[in-house]
Amino acid sequence: MLTLFPSMFLGPLQESILKRAQERGLLDIILHQLRDYAFDRHQMTDDTPYGGGDGMVLKPEPIYRAVTTIRNTESTPIILLTPQGQAFKQETAIELAQYPSLFLICGHYEGVDERIRKHLVTHEYSIGDYVLTGGELAAMVIIDAIARFIPGVLGAQNGARNDSYASGLLEGPQYTRPAVFQGREVPGVLRSGNHAAIERWQYEQALHRTQERRPDLLEEATPDH
Ligand code: ADE
Repeated sequence: MLTLFPSMFLGPLQESILKRAQERGLLDIILHQLRDYAFDRHQMTDDTPYGGGDGMVLKPEPIYRAVTTIRNTESTPIILLTPQGQAFKQETAIELAQYPSLFLICGHYEGVDERIRKHLVTHEYSIGDYVLTGGELAAMVIIDAIARFIPGVLGAQNGARNDSYASGLLEGPQYTRPAVFQGREVPGVLRSGNHAAIERWQYEQALHRTQERRPDLLEEATPDH
C-alpha cells in the first residue's frame, strides 16, 4: 500500500475481523509512505500540471521508485484507486483475493502522472460514482471486501457465500429473538422447522427485495436455485 497518509488506515485495520485476520497471519498489510521515496531536497511528491489547470498531480518518480523497490514479484497487480477506474464489484473482490499479493496506490489531488497510470499501473478501480478526497478510503473498502474471500478470514465456513451479491441477489430479511417485538411477530414460516419451506421463503424474499431495490441486478443474476 502506497499512500501519503498511512495513519488513516490504523483505525479500520486495528479492529474486528481485519485485526484478527492479521493476527492470525491470513492477511498482511504493509503501509508505505510515498514521501519516503521522494529524494529531492523538499521531498516533493506532487507538482503543478503541464498545460495549467487546478490542483496538483502526483509526480512519477517517487511512485515508480516505490513500486519497483517494494513489490514482491513482477506479477503482483499494481492497483490505482481513482474515480476514473473500473467499477469495483463483488466479483472483483473474489478475483483479487486469488493473488498472493497486491500493491495498492492511493491517488490524491488531481491524479497521478499519466505515464505511471499507463505504464506501471495494471488495474484501476473506482468504488462508486462520487469523488472522495483521496484513494485511502477506497483502498480500505476494497481491502475489506477482498479479505472476506481469503480462506479462514470469516469465522463460519462459507461465510461469504450466502450473503448479498453472492448469488446476484440481495439478502432477504433477517430476524432474531424475541419472537414478538412491540407487537410485531417474526414470520411463522421461520419458526416452523420446515427447512424446505424456509429456504423457499428466503429465496422468494431475496428475489422480491432485489426486484424492489435493485432491479438492475436481476439482469445479471445467476441464482443457484
Ligand atoms: N479516489 C477518489 N474518489 C474515488 C473513488 N470513487 N473510487 C476510488 N478512488 C477514489
